[in-house]
Amino acid sequence: MIFKSSTTAVPDVPAVPRHVAIIMDGNGRWATKRLLPRVAGHVKGVEAVRGVVEACVLRGVEYLTLFAFSSENWRRPAEEVSLLMRLFVTALEREVSKMHANDIRLKVVGDLSRFDPKLQDMIANAERKTAGNKRLTVSVCANYGGRWDIMQATSKMIANHPGVTEFTEEMLAPHLAMAYAPEPDLFIRTGGEERISNFLLWQLAYSELYFTDTYWPDFSADSLDAAIASYQARERRFGRTGEQVANKT
Ligand code: IPE
Ligand code: IPE
Ligand code: MG
Repeated sequence: MIFKSSTTAVPDVPAVPRHVAIIMDGNGRWATKRLLPRVAGHVKGVEAVRGVVEACVLRGVEYLTLFAFSSENWRRPAEEVSLLMRLFVTALEREVSKMHANDIRLKVVGDLSRFDPKLQDMIANAERKTAGNKRLTVSVCANYGGRWDIMQATSKMIANHPGVTEFTEEMLAPHLAMAYAPEPDLFIRTGGEERISNFLLWQLAYSELYFTDTYWPDFSADSLDAAIASYQARERRFGRTGEQVANKT
């Protein structure tokens, strides 16, 4: 069962994390440092996404989840928000066929109702087109918030169990927006801040956290390898002792 919490059994730590989730931060500062407008950083950031998707395919990562726009990012100046929306549209127009040709499935996760209906249609078409692809699932979190996710899942869970007043984690999990994926093994945040910023609150419970000062537009396949190497050097205990983990009990 894919929605079963990954914290209930001692899982094998695979050489490569199955699921990598990234907060792509630092686009604005990357641009400002070069005396460029913030938008230049976002444009460059899209290129970095392309490189990391390719690197994940080559390394055998099965799920890559990217935080592209948070539910709080609407607070930014209107021009920046509208530019980010335009970039999203252009990226979909340019990349979806290539992703499909490379056996990559695309999912867009978040409260999509706030987006322009045309963008919503493009997203639905892209998801439909790539639905059967198996090599890598790329989830783009857009107008996503971890609290939103938990609340929308809670509402659905309650509606699904009329009259029930006691609930379990197993009843909630299938309603979370990313119930199709295992929980992230490795979480990466670029740009130097060490916070979650309302990303996958539920699903990150036992993920390994990795923070780097590298700004997102500079994040390369080598940067990904450094994060994976850090992950591989850790012992995931899920509440147990190191001895138990070594003996797999
Ligand atoms: C991340 O980079 C991209 C989005 C949040 C859309 P920022 O735009 O947050 O860049 P900084 O943090 O201001 O440098
Ligand atoms: C988090 O970055 C959201 C995305 C990368 C999409 P922010 O730049 O919005 O986060 P804060 O505001 O610094 O916490
Ligand atoms: Mg930021």
